[in-house]
This record gives sequence, structure tokens and C-alpha cells, in this order.
Amino acid sequence: MDIDSRELRDALGRFATGVCVITTIDSQKPLAMTVNSFASVSLDPPLVLWSLQNNSDIYAAFAGPEHFAINILSKDQQHLSNLYAQKGDHLLHPDHYRIGKYGSPILRDALTTLECKLETSHEGGDHLIIIGRVCDMHTRSTGKPLLFFSGAYRELH
Ligand SMILES: Cc1cc2nc3c(=O)[nH]c(=O)nc-3n(C[C@H](O)[C@H](O)[C@H](O)COP(=O)(O)O)c2cc1C
Repeated sequence: MDIDSRELRDALGRFATGVCVITTIDSQKPLAMTVNSFASVSLDPPLVLWSLQNNSDIYAAFAGPEHFAINILSKDQQHLSNLYAQKGDHLLHPDHYRIGKYGSPILRDALTTLECKLETSHEGGDHLIIIGRVCDMHTRSTGKPLLFFSGAYRELH
């Protein structure tokens, strides 16, 4: 069966996910990109992954940083998801972050932030699968997640 990319995207979109913002520092610039490809990999060792599209204008900045953070957005952070999904310089606004223990920008008020050290990466078709080792984490005990399903934002009821 020939798989049509548009149909595949729609089919995969039926898998409900959270929404994350990946943050890192590149050439002393704090950067951010919205993703929903985040997944947990392993508890011991503590590994997580996300995937980066090969045709991103800022591929080089996100493909190989030594450290990065995965910030899981709350339902009140949809504007951040939209902002950091825009094409452009992906520059992180100074009001939106603080610097974490391992030097990555940490998004303020995220539900959870995982500070990671790059473990390895693998080519996966038109994406690069980036695996990080969690070195520190911050979790808010309250708050509801921002969800993404069938191409639209959703909330838990
Ligand atoms: C909900 C959502 C999920 C996304 N997930 C990913 C993802 O997992 N990987 C990715 O590379 N881009 C993802 N994107 C696209 C990027 O956020 C961004 O739009 C894209 O990087 C912009 O193009 P540029 O990288 O050339 O600047 C997602 C966008 C949205 C709105």
C-alpha cells in the first residue's frame, strides 16, 4: 500500500499528546521550539526522546547541543506553544525563562521541566531522534496539561 503523507499525518494526529517546548542555548542565544514528539524511553538510566524535522531552518542549533530542556506545557501556555512554533529565530523571550542547574533555559510555569544531557541521536527518516539523559527535573504539583489532538489544542475536562 502506498502511504500518502497527508493521510498518515491525519492518522497519527488521532494519537493525543501533550505539548512541549524544547529549550537550549546556541552561541549564547537562548532558543525554544514547540514539539509534540516527546516520549519517555527508560527509567534506569533515565532517558527521554523527541524528534526534530530535518528541514528545520534551525536544525543545527537543536540537533547537537550538549544540554537541552524539555518543558511540558500547561493549559495556560498555549500562547507559548504558538509563539515558539513560528518560523524565525526561535529566540526565547527573557521573561519566559530562568537558567537551570546544567545551563539550559527553563521555561517558567511549565508543568514539568526535564533538564537533559544529550545521550545519542539517530536518523529516523525525515526526522532526527534525539535521546537525552535526564540530569535534573522540576515538577509543578498542580495545573492541567495542554493537549494536542487531530491538529487542534484540547484541554482535560
Ligand atoms: C503542536 C506542535 C507540535 C510540533 N511538533 C514538532 C516536533 O515534534 N518536531 C519538530 O521538529 N517540529 C515540531 N513542530 C513544528 C515546530 O514547532 C516549528 O513550527 C517549526 O520548527 C518551524 O519551522 P523552523 O524549524 O524551520 O523554524 C510542532 C509544532 C506544533 C504546533
